[in-house]
Amino acid sequence: MTAAAAGLATANESRTGTIKARIDESINELLASLPQPENLTAVERRGIIARYTAVLEGNFIYWMTGAYLSVRSDEARAKIMDNLREEVRDCHPGMMRRFAIAAHAIPTDADAQAVHRDLMNVRLFIGRLSAVPILVTMAFFEGFIQRFMSYLAELARRQGSVEMEYTDVHGVCDVTHTQELFRALQAEMVLECPLPEKEMFEGVELLRRLIKSIVLNEMNTRRGSHVRQGNRDFGDSADCQGRPQESASPDR
Ligand SMILES: [Fe+2]
Repeated sequence: MTAAAAGLATANESRTGTIKARIDESINELLASLPQPENLTAVERRGIIARYTAVLEGNFIYWMTGAYLSVRSDEARAKIMDNLREEVRDCHPGMMRRFAIAAHAIPTDADAQAVHRDLMNVRLFIGRLSAVPILVTMAFFEGFIQRFMSYLAELARRQGSVEMEYTDVHGVCDVTHTQELFRALQAEMVLECPLPEKEMFEGVELLRRLIKSIVLNEMNTRRGSHVRQGNRDFGDSADCQGRPQESASPDR
């Protein structure tokens, strides 16, 4: 390795470290905002599991496929392919569905409607196929899921479920997935000019809003406000270039 290449690698490692710190901070903040399971009603617990399922079951593989299509380095492609292979081979959407069924939380039209706008914003962001911001977003998401699993499992247990394969698998395998995504990010950053911070973390912000829609929907409704306030600046204008909003349907 030449001195210039070694210098670039060191600079990228330090930038990845800064991104990781910011992601960890966002995850900590999000986890700290979760309502305590013992303070939730059965309806609220069901709603969180159902909305989480409505989002994850039909979209995670799409998001990860977007990451695959956007990256240029062989290293990043190989790591994302491993992740996708595991999702498909072990049928993670099926695992998710079994988890929801056992917790009596199969998503309904209302659950899909509750997350529709924020989910569309994430889909449109992924559709831009911009490698570095997508990898930052997916690293955030895998990191969040890994730590969210014990909370989700607790909600399901309180719903009377003993079907914990989904939460058991994702509490463990997403540790490796997060590390691999950071390695993929490092490989891609070598190929791209540094991005402004806003652009780099745009997907993280959109996902944070989506997760808040999943978790806080019923509580905001109960308090007489609505969770939609986070969408004003992105949703309407970005939704398919001004075409009428599509009607929500469960993402199954
Ligand atoms: Fe998965």
